[in-house]
Amino acid sequence: MSERRIGIVMNGVTGRMGLRQHLQRSILAIRDASGIQAADSTTIVPEPILVGRDERKLQSLAATHDVARWTTSLDEALAEPDAEIYFDAQLTRLREKGVRAAVEAGKAVYCEKPIAEDLSAALDLARLVRDAGVPNGVVQDKLSLPGLRKLKRLVDGGFFGRILSVRGEFGYWVFEGDWQAAQRPSWNYRREDGGGIITDMFAHWRYVLDEIFGEVRSVYCQGATHVPVRYDESGRRYDATADDAAYGIFELDGGIVAQLNSSWAVRVYRDELVEFQVDGTEGSAIAGLRDCKVQHRATTPKPVWNPDLPVTEPFRDQWQQVPDNEDFDNGFKVQWEEFLRSVVDGTTFPYDFLAGAKGVQLAELGLKSWQEGRKLEVPELTL
Ligand SMILES: NC(=O)c1ccc[n+]([C@@H]2O[C@H](COP(=O)([O-])OP(=O)(O)OC[C@H]3O[C@@H](n4cnc5c(N)ncnc54)[C@H](O)[C@@H]3O)[C@@H](O)[C@H]2O)c1
Repeated sequence: MSERRIGIVMNGVTGRMGLRQHLQRSILAIRDASGIQAADSTTIVPEPILVGRDERKLQSLAATHDVARWTTSLDEALAEPDAEIYFDAQLTRLREKGVRAAVEAGKAVYCEKPIAEDLSAALDLARLVRDAGVPNGVVQDKLSLPGLRKLKRLVDGGFFGRILSVRGEFGYWVFEGDWQAAQRPSWNYRREDGGGIITDMFAHWRYVLDEIFGEVRSVYCQGATHVPVRYDESGRRYDATADDAAYGIFELDGGIVAQLNSSWAVRVYRDELVEFQVDGTEGSAIAGLRDCKVQHRATTPKPVWNPDLPVTEPFRDQWQQVPDNEDFDNGFKVQWEEFLRSVVDGTTFPYDFLAGAKGVQLAELGLKSWQEGRKLEVPELTL
């Protein structure tokens, strides 16, 4: 059985997502499990080459994780003879430059979302990778969450009948950074640094809605900056110039109405940090990151509105757990494996840069809708 070692230039691995999800939970996990099988049974073994700004951080990261190569020069990393893939989890606003250099060097590219700060840059990148003929992909990790996989299974199995609506609640309280450290990087709260919850979360909502329920056809978004002043990593006070909450209404194919709240200024009274309720003519479901519960029309109670009486039904007990029925691996790792196989097998990775551009498009339209105070159509995207 043959083995193919693939050098992966990983940029932004000192960051939250780059380190935990992509380096540790995906690439090193695959490497340490001795690789994965390609279609022709070749064993694919990823070999990370770390790139970043801070020598000391990179050196210590490489030593801790038994990674032989690291550098502060992207060009040097791209020139490594075995480097076949460029991965970017840097700040969003830095991505375009890194991707362009990688495409120029003929590498396959895989990126965190959003692929660029605005739609025109995202489309330019999508055209660039198409014209260069390099494999390309964007992270769409939420599709691999166990809760959403079960939801998709219910949709595919026709459980809901006609789907009427989707309600989503995403969010938690992100500390301001003064009396307790903030648990997200401060750039997220500065528009000039590419921050904002609309830019961040609408990139996710686009593929979640498109892939599970139906293409997004329109958006109305009310944004807000609920917490106007925050404190950064070094305790400095700064103005939060980006939105920290978004209240979105989306029309989907088939007349489905999706209403998704995203907020970093909300306290959690839910079972999970994100939850979706889907109501259909035949049944309903509640899905979170891991769990999914259903209620069929045959087991639906008949509450009668009467504020004079205490609650008459144990509503939360009237739902049934959807079983796992399969093993769920880390979503980022699942998609890395799919991307690596697509590069080696020469097949198309389903979540390409055009799909990434659609996420950027929805975020851009969301911001515009908020600015103009009106609902906007989401036009078909072509290259
Ligand atoms: N898929 C997801 O669920 C998900 C979740 C969060 C973030 N993200 C995306 O991942 C990317 C990184 O987000 P993060 O939360 O890991 O951010 P982070 O601030 O923790 O990491 C940013 C990375 O960029 C590097 N960087 C390069 N130049 C920098 C500069 N001038 N200032 C600050 N950092 C610089 C940092 O060293 C670090 O490695 C973003 O594009 C974000 O949209 C995706």
